[in-house]
Amino acid sequence: MKGSTCKYNSNFRELITAIDHEPAGTAFITDENEKLCGIVTDGDFRRMLLKGKSMDDHLSKSDFGDFVVAKKGESMEALLKKTSKKIRIIPIVDDEGFLVDYFVYRHQTRFTPIAEPTLDNTEYRYLMDAFTSTWISSRGKYIDQFEENFSNFIGCKYGVAVSNGTVAIHLALEALGVGEGDEVIIPDLTFAATINAVLLAKATPVLVDVDLESWTISPDEIEKAINPNTKAIIPVHVYGQACDMEGIMDIAKKHDLKVIEDCAEAHGAEFKGKRVGSFGDIATFSFFANKIITTGEGGMCMTNSAELDDRMRQMRDHGMSREKKYWHEMIGFNYRMTNLQAAIGCAQLEKIDQLLERNDNFEKQYKEALDELGLIQWQKEIEGRRKVVWLVACLSDHKEAISNALRENSIDVRPFFYCLSDMPIYSKYHFSNKNAKLLSEKGMNLPTVENVDYGLIKKILSQI
Ligand SMILES: Cc1ncc(COP(=O)(O)O)c(C=O)c1O
Repeated sequence: MKGSTCKYNSNFRELITAIDHEPAGTAFITDENEKLCGIVTDGDFRRMLLKGKSMDDHLSKSDFGDFVVAKKGESMEALLKKTSKKIRIIPIVDDEGFLVDYFVYRHQTRFTPIAEPTLDNTEYRYLMDAFTSTWISSRGKYIDQFEENFSNFIGCKYGVAVSNGTVAIHLALEALGVGEGDEVIIPDLTFAATINAVLLAKATPVLVDVDLESWTISPDEIEKAINPNTKAIIPVHVYGQACDMEGIMDIAKKHDLKVIEDCAEAHGAEFKGKRVGSFGDIATFSFFANKIITTGEGGMCMTNSAELDDRMRQMRDHGMSREKKYWHEMIGFNYRMTNLQAAIGCAQLEKIDQLLERNDNFEKQYKEALDELGLIQWQKEIEGRRKVVWLVACLSDHKEAISNALRENSIDVRPFFYCLSDMPIYSKYHFSNKNAKLLSEKGMNLPTVENVDYGLIKKILSQI
């Protein structure tokens, strides 16, 4: 303590020696009677040097103006109240004003987010290449390359890159001619983009329940919801799990329905050895920053039909004829992806296998650390399907306590989506949701990022 004090008229060499004395990086300044009259932090010192002070200059009163102080015996709560983002060091004085101690508030600076993009030198190089080429809008080599490489990865003939995963669903509906008067069956447990896209197309969504084991849309419920107005089904491969594509495609065939697979959360997931996105008439993907691979914002529609591919390309570009510039043959949109986004996508695609393996490994580490606590049930591996880990997903009867405890320790937790039909704006589209409700109440996602401290999480959760 003593070494970190210095006199009000010390020179800067003495000041920095005092600052350097204790890890708090602060000098406590005393007056001619040895009473505390100010503090100077290492940041204050830096600013003084920038103002032109030299080591031989002496401190003056203006160098250590007002400061926050506490009296000996004040409670921890009172001390904490005196701290803020800027004020982290509180000197403690006795009744006469002599320094007796100090309090340092060390707030947790390491926040563990739920997801973060993995961007490195390849993304940077491709992005800079696109940038310096000046092809920064929706033409350029990376668009073609990204469309070709990602559709090859999924196992589809054509990929149409678009500006995000929501417009991808809308474009798919428009290209299939789904609109007013048509009913579209979707799961009640999904992100709202799925239903919003249906409503944007002026069609009527029908919200059906999911399967308790896979958490994905239930073929039995689809069958029950079908009526003469039903035009399409949008199975969502939610939380990285593949839907029962055999059951769904059989139903679609039997009732002559279109199928749009929403694969936003399941890049690389498989059903019976085939990647999701290669079953329906059209599949849609999202490349938002928290997705398995990202382009910042971005999406893609995928199909094996040359005709649908052609229609979607035309529609994403204002409905303009692909042969005759400024000749519009249909009402279209500007749903194009930029070459800059596609450049990032190409780099991401080069490491998609590693990212999928890494995420599987994250889930394994959670299981190893937390299974013995018996608090959590993990997403199921289902025979014949390969689920991918988008965000590590689990269920728990103690969801609230787990979420609170982790958040208090700066570890993010994401609750599952609410059932769409529980929200007043969508409730009139309800068909069935018993399982979806249960899953929504118990489900949560855990951080799926590098450097998760699994040991710390175990310690935190063992105390709840
Ligand atoms: C199931 C599902 N569908 C669609 C989307 C929409 O994608 P985007 O955010 O790229 O518009 C998301 C995005 O989070 C999603 O989770």
